[in-house]
Amino acid sequence: MFEHFNTAEELFSFKLGSALSMEHDSLEMLGELEQHAQRAELKTLFREHAEETRQQIKNLEQCFQLLGEKVNDSPSPTTKGLSREGKSTIRKTDPRIVDTVLLSGGLETERYEIAVYEILIVNADARGADEVAVLLRENLKQEEAASEKIKKAAREVAQSGPVEVNK
Ligand SMILES: [Fe+2]
Repeated sequence: MFEHFNTAEELFSFKLGSALSMEHDSLEMLGELEQHAQRAELKTLFREHAEETRQQIKNLEQCFQLLGEKVNDSPSPTTKGLSREGKSTIRKTDPRIVDTVLLSGGLETERYEIAVYEILIVNADARGADEVAVLLRENLKQEEAASEKIKKAAREVAQSGPVEVNK
């Protein structure tokens, strides 16, 4: 929708739309992660974060509303790339050790999402869009919590080794 950015507000809208596309990609990816997870606790972790992600999408849509703007769907090539990379590595990995792949894809995505929200919040604060900043902080908090849970799970998976799989 934007050919050229002339104002900080236009850039903000573009990045907000990109965050929305990012969360849609993330929701799709979490479904994949849940489907391929071998450990029940990981399925739960991914399912719960998918629930949060649905709320995050609503928060982002509400941000547009608060700004009096139409929701836009700016591209998010980074999450598309992370998703492609994850799917390709899952295909090449034995199910006994695939949880490690899922957790690294999950953590990489969360860290990217955290950076996206951090910079959106900086700019929402700068333009005095307080209600928008509150919603963005809600999303950021969930991403930070998800990131910590994934890191903890990754440590446990790395230490416990391969799982038994009924083929
Ligand atoms: Fe997330």
